[in-house]
Amino acid sequence: MSFMFRKFHSVIGQHHKRITVFTLHQLRMDRVPAATAGVTRNASSFKHENAFIDGKWVPAASGKTFQVINPSTGGVIGSVPDMDAQDTEEAIKVAYKAFQTWKETTARERSGVLRKWAELCTQHKDELAKLLTAEMGKPLAEAAGEVAYGTAFIEWFAEEARRVYGDIIPTTTNTRRMLVLKQPLGVAGMITPWNFPNAMITRKACAAIAAGCTVVLKPAEDTPYSALALCELASMAGMPPGVLNVVTSSRDHAAEVGKMLCKHPLVMKISFTGSTQVGKILLEQSASTVKKVSLELGGNAPFIVFDSADVDAAVKGLMGCKFRVSGQTCVCANRILVQEGIYDKFVQKVAETMDRELKVGDGFEDGTTQGPLINSKAVDKVQGHVDDAVIKGATVVRGGKRLDGNFFLPTLLSHVTQEMRCSSEETFGPVAPILKFKTEEEAVAIANVTSSGLAGYFFSQNLSQIWRVAEQLETGIVGVNEGLVSVPESPFGGWKESGLGSEGSKYGIDEYLHLKYVCMGGI
Ligand code: SIN
Repeated sequence: MSFMFRKFHSVIGQHHKRITVFTLHQLRMDRVPAATAGVTRNASSFKHENAFIDGKWVPAASGKTFQVINPSTGGVIGSVPDMDAQDTEEAIKVAYKAFQTWKETTARERSGVLRKWAELCTQHKDELAKLLTAEMGKPLAEAAGEVAYGTAFIEWFAEEARRVYGDIIPTTTNTRRMLVLKQPLGVAGMITPWNFPNAMITRKACAAIAAGCTVVLKPAEDTPYSALALCELASMAGMPPGVLNVVTSSRDHAAEVGKMLCKHPLVMKISFTGSTQVGKILLEQSASTVKKVSLELGGNAPFIVFDSADVDAAVKGLMGCKFRVSGQTCVCANRILVQEGIYDKFVQKVAETMDRELKVGDGFEDGTTQGPLINSKAVDKVQGHVDDAVIKGATVVRGGKRLDGNFFLPTLLSHVTQEMRCSSEETFGPVAPILKFKTEEEAVAIANVTSSGLAGYFFSQNLSQIWRVAEQLETGIVGVNEGLVSVPESPFGGWKESGLGSEGSKYGIDEYLHLKYVCMGGI
């Protein structure tokens, strides 16, 4: 088992605690349909070719469909409805109707459905992982890791559903009592990315559903099957019709679907994970109805290695942080800043580790750690960053070029400077550009120069430096001597142009709740 796999398995281990078996009489059966307990399925039966609205599998009103492509082989996996604004509006109305009863359920009832859903996702984890690898390309072991990560969000919000507390405020007048209630917002519109086709859905949707909201979700056009499989399992778990609705659409209709979600007066909340450019458009569109908006946008994570670092630990941290999902995560190291005293040694060790541990290939092949990029446009961008760096003086230590199809060789660049595109833009691919710095002040200044502020990492064994730098980094997430930090228990959210709000953790559910101040007089 390679490092990558060992590391991912240990991450999975953190998420993967035993799920408490949910008993049906914990639900009020008049409100929530019975779960289809004990149903076992074949992998293929989770692959749905229709969208999921009001608990039913439905085509687009236009009858149009679009093809879903395996990024590894270029082959067609199947097709799904190409829905438009009109279909989306129908889904919003359905979700609004379902909200009228879902908001009346108790936290315990919602928790029970979510727990059952998590249990079914665990039971069918292999089928979910295979679908995910087929449509997104990540290696099967990583896909299994994502399914465990995604399921952990369902479990987490099943627990958080029961911990939404209000407040009693000490009275200012004896004849009054003052309280704060928390109430669900209503219909939440969601747009999710292709890089985590399972976990980004559960991280958003389960927070909303736990709070008592209902959901209309558009998955990325590249990866609709994971979303639809999650719908089937939710339905099997007893999720009432209309609580979770998935609208599939091609890139041609994505903008109108997004606009409908953002502008519709019955939608109270927008949650989006994707590019900063699209996030800004959605934020602007949501202004017309003053919606609450959560955005998880692009990053440009600095990964700083100080002279005081344990170099082997830093190399290991970088491998997971940079090459997870072939570098296609918003939190992966984008600029690697290494202090001059250990620069050459670090570059050498990273190169040797890449030779030993990274294997490019189809995600279904044993031993693959680096799957394809999502499409040829992504490969063009990565090649563009490498070419630009080389023209401006970078040295290609490893890789540096595209392979057939959507594959790109894991790449290590040294002598990188801030003037290169790979320093100022998010590469979203398997390229590790290494810059040299002299002082802590210089490293922090370079780290903070960007308008992004999602994740930042640094390796140091100097305690006061650890405190100083952790406080000075202008990012919502900081990994200190750690390259993989995402867990459901911790808040995930960016500063500056990397986003608004937080997902996961005890804070994630607040994004789907109104505060209501109730002042009771005449007492
Ligand atoms: C992302 O890339 O958007 C999510 C990564 C994570 O949850 O760690």
